[in-house]
Amino acid sequence: MTKKRAASSTKTRPGHRPGEFIRVLISDARVKLRLKQLAKEIRRDFPTEALHLIGVLKGSVFFLTDLARELGGEVSFDFLSVSSYGSGTDSTGEVKLIKDLDVSIEGKTVIVVEDILDTGLTLKYLLRFFEEKKPKHLRVVVLLDKVERRIADVRADYTGFAIPNEFVVGYGLDFDERYRNLPDVSVLQFGSRSKAITE
Ligand code: PRP
Repeated sequence: MTKKRAASSTKTRPGHRPGEFIRVLISDARVKLRLKQLAKEIRRDFPTEALHLIGVLKGSVFFLTDLARELGGEVSFDFLSVSSYGSGTDSTGEVKLIKDLDVSIEGKTVIVVEDILDTGLTLKYLLRFFEEKKPKHLRVVVLLDKVERRIADVRADYTGFAIPNEFVVGYGLDFDERYRNLPDVSVLQFGSRSKAITE
């Protein structure tokens, strides 16, 4: 599903559909570089522990798989899927579990991997859900943090980039299930081409 996402600069170019334009906010090279740093930060905290990554479908897929390959040491992963009710562009705070974990996390060092932290309502629900399952450690890594949108009192332990309140797509993030495959994190803009072009 799709929520409000966020952004800053560079060139606006046509999107895949009329009236949709994208501009790169964070290049894939910057994402990859930041992932290496995040992996080091996580391994600094857990140098020898087996890490169990939990990806929240679907936006976190590329982030999780790229991060997993940077982490080194023993790494396993699992996925779950949740859905929030509401208009499709805004969270109502109600979260429904669509796909549960495949394996128990009891006693494991769990790293929750999210593509974006927005209102924080999804993460708040997930943290409660995971804590009940008694992991040894529970940490959260997010690629993007849209700080000014926060409603729930939650924070990530490791954050890739703080971003402004704009609609972002790419590197796993979608608009209506499209644009997930873009390599960069980009801002999606709507309107006429002349209005959308910024330089
Ligand atoms: C995104 C993201 C988080 C959630 C964050 O998922 O992956 O799970 O929204 O929003 P919140 O902080 O306001 O709760 P989305 O519902 O867009 O699903 P998707 O990953 O399948 O695109």
